[in-house]
Amino acid sequence: MAIKRSMTRPYRSGPFEPASASGQPGYWLEPQTLGIAPGRLNKPLNQLELLDLWRREEQEPFSGWDFRHLNGRHWTDDPKTWSYMDHASELLRQSKSAVDLDTGGGEQLLELRPHWPTKLYATESYPPNVKLATERLALYGVKVFDVATTYDGLMPFADGEFDLVLNRHGSFNPAEVGRVLAPGGTFFTQQVHARTNWDLQAVFGAKTPWPDAKPEYYVPRLESAGLTIVHVKESIGRHGFTDVGALIFYLKVIPWTVPGFSVDTHQQALLSLHQRLEGGQPLAFEWRSYVIEARKS
Ligand SMILES: C[S@@+](CC[C@H](N)C(=O)[O-])C[C@H]1O[C@@H](n2cnc3c(N)ncnc32)[C@H](O)[C@@H]1O
Repeated sequence: MAIKRSMTRPYRSGPFEPASASGQPGYWLEPQTLGIAPGRLNKPLNQLELLDLWRREEQEPFSGWDFRHLNGRHWTDDPKTWSYMDHASELLRQSKSAVDLDTGGGEQLLELRPHWPTKLYATESYPPNVKLATERLALYGVKVFDVATTYDGLMPFADGEFDLVLNRHGSFNPAEVGRVLAPGGTFFTQQVHARTNWDLQAVFGAKTPWPDAKPEYYVPRLESAGLTIVHVKESIGRHGFTDVGALIFYLKVIPWTVPGFSVDTHQQALLSLHQRLEGGQPLAFEWRSYVIEARKS
């Protein structure tokens, strides 16, 4: 969807018209987006048009873990001091065998391809992504195991099978990570903190389904599994959206943020966010992440 952007008001999907007499905020779109006459576009959208636009947004296709649809409409201001991809590359280069847990559609793992070791596996459990990751990774000889890596689930790998276990934004069982690592092997994970989006969820009356997703939960469990913590780094930043449509796409494709979310069920909250944006406040929320690197003794 093409939304013209204002250079002077970066958090809006503008250039915005002033609020109309009916109080509805302005929303400036490419003519083809709504199928309405271009002459109509210098007037703000009314509520019905906004809802129509938003319902189209929630129907936008999404596959794998690919957020390109939000390019230019979602921003992150994250002061983190690490690069997951750089460090994962370095660790892969030092390894002979590795597994990527919860690989999604395999997007990040494929980006790391120049650094892959000879033996590489992945796990995934969300059926559309099992299919997608299997298709993509099989081309390069990487087997995808259809297994859910939950807090306490088991993994179909032998004791000490890997030099490296990677996990980016996926769940994992610390005891199983410890079991499948060879002595001297490394576990490296980047996680989205439980506090991420607490303020966005509050708007919709939702709470994180994973209150334990914090270093305080994982670190002692990794230590009990025979790993020594090399480092834990945490970063607290913000992320935000240029327009409510972008937020709707995000909430649809990450369904655990606001369980049961749809434009129709959460219309009032969406309209209040739209007004907030029109009032000059950015659609910005807490984004907190951390990395843990640990080594098997
Ligand atoms: C946050 S994704 C991260 C994927 C990958 N490691 C990455 O960093 O791009 C973690 C898990 O959520 C799964 N997932 C994605 N969409 C889902 C959905 N609608 N319902 C349930 N799980 C989903 C993914 O398949 C993946 O296993």
